[in-house]
Amino acid sequence: MRRSLRFVFRGKVVELNSFDPNLTLLEWLREERRATGTKEGCNEGDCGACTVALARLRDGRLHLQPVNACILLLGQIDGAELITIEDLSEGGVLHPIQQAMIEHHGSQCGFCTPGIVMSLFVAYHEAERPLTRTAFDDVLSGNLCRCTGYRPIADAAMSAIRGAIDDAFAADSAARQFRLEALQEGSDILIGHEARFFASPATLESLLDIALRHPDATLLAGGTDVGLWVTKKLSDLNKIIWLGRVRGLGGIEETETALKIGAMVTHDAAMPALAALDPDLETLMRRFGSRQVRASGTVGGNLANGSPIGDLAPALIALGATIELRKGGLMRSMPLESFFLSYGKQAREAGEIVTGISIPKLKEGMAFRAFKISKRFDEDISAVMGAFRFTLDQGTIAEARLAYGGMAGVPARARATEAALAGVALDDPHAWTAALKHLEEDFSPISDMRASADYRRKVARAILGKALLEVAGGAASTRIIAREGVVHAS
Ligand SMILES: Cc1cc2nc3c(=O)[nH]c(=O)nc-3n(C[C@H](O)[C@H](O)[C@H](O)COP(=O)(O)OP(=O)(O)OC[C@H]3O[C@@H](n4cnc5c(N)ncnc54)[C@H](O)[C@@H]3O)c2cc1C
Ligand code: FES
Ligand code: FES
Repeated sequence: MRRSLRFVFRGKVVELNSFDPNLTLLEWLREERRATGTKEGCNEGDCGACTVALARLRDGRLHLQPVNACILLLGQIDGAELITIEDLSEGGVLHPIQQAMIEHHGSQCGFCTPGIVMSLFVAYHEAERPLTRTAFDDVLSGNLCRCTGYRPIADAAMSAIRGAIDDAFAADSAARQFRLEALQEGSDILIGHEARFFASPATLESLLDIALRHPDATLLAGGTDVGLWVTKKLSDLNKIIWLGRVRGLGGIEETETALKIGAMVTHDAAMPALAALDPDLETLMRRFGSRQVRASGTVGGNLANGSPIGDLAPALIALGATIELRKGGLMRSMPLESFFLSYGKQAREAGEIVTGISIPKLKEGMAFRAFKISKRFDEDISAVMGAFRFTLDQGTIAEARLAYGGMAGVPARARATEAALAGVALDDPHAWTAALKHLEEDFSPISDMRASADYRRKVARAILGKALLEVAGGAASTRIIAREGVVHAS
């Protein structure tokens, strides 16, 4: 058992034997290290002013990711190298990204600038070259600037992110990798005492054991929800069990018929595998939060939080996914829709862990569509999310699995509409339009700050109608950007 947290910062290993389990990385940086270059804006993962980079070993190489330091708990950086805005220039020489920001007038008041530079710094190392404007939009999806406007920042990024990578970090990468390798070891971590701790088990057995002994502990995955309990609800979490180092929860297994995603797989890492199932899942994942949120947030966390507006649940329910849980020596699984019991209540006992999700692949004769409706393209939670899987047989709908988020207290199937669509001929738009009316029986949505009940009803119907129109192969253009990324003529 290790009793300390270890990570690399400014070229040295930092070892901390005690810290408050609720302490965020941003608080540690600004208040304990006086590293105030990293800014605090929203303190909830939305603005990106607090963006820092974490380097971790993945597939035998250093991999950089941008994260929101405001909602990341300090304990979550164990085993990583932390890089902040103060680390970028070398002996007074600015990093190529910083230099480009000056040359292209990419900053005015400057408050957003450190976060933006850090997102671009990660892209400088990780993005395909040369950076396209579309790729830039994605790189900056988690950073807001309220005065400069994004065009000069885009110009700076696209001028700097081309050609070979040439900075001090690349030059020093072998030594940095060596330092991180030396930090990786397989012991459990516990910092604190029985009544108040930050724990980081290294194996599934240790996780199941500590979760059983402390069923009142908060399970922490990526922290993109839990972090906000601390910074916005001002919760004081006494016992935190972080799942980030547990071996065996972070893998993706693919068979001919299914995809199995471990609970701790981040959205970023899950994206290629999900995209391979259907192009709509790629679009959905691209619109999931921001680069920073996708780098930290996990598939398991998105399901375990039971949110009625979480994006993965409707998509995976429509695909017929099964969620897997473990408590002590007991293992069970259930159809994902059965996991969501009522608002805020899931079929998960205290001390029980979501270990993964199994997703059947689409078979011959199946069509899938998913639509996320939110006010912004990036970094926005759905007002309504709809995902639909149709099994087609000689021009008729043999089976429809229709799942919605934002329409009830839980993500749920539209069973009356599913029944009404069964056996309907695709070339009979009157028949399937009539079936859409059954959504009224399935859902009584509420009005809240995201959308009115009436808007939700209309949108739920419209997106299902759009899916049917597309699957029926009608001539009408239904999208601005087509599923394969081709722009429709009109
Ligand atoms: C700025 C921002 C944008 C966001 N955008 C989106 C979005 O577009 N779409 C969307 O769906 N969500 C969005 N979210 C919500 C959140 O990011 C996701 O729900 C994310 O997947 C949560 O995963 P996590 O790993 O961060 O969970 P955590 O915050 O670590 O945990 C969430 C909950 O699940 C529990 N938990 C986590 N893992 C397990 C496990 N393996 N077993 C049992 N319980 C577990 C925790 O105890 C906690 O109750 C956004 C959040 C932020 C801050
Ligand atoms: S301070 Fe706004 S994202 Fe962290
Ligand atoms: S320069 Fe002022 S917010 Fe971006």
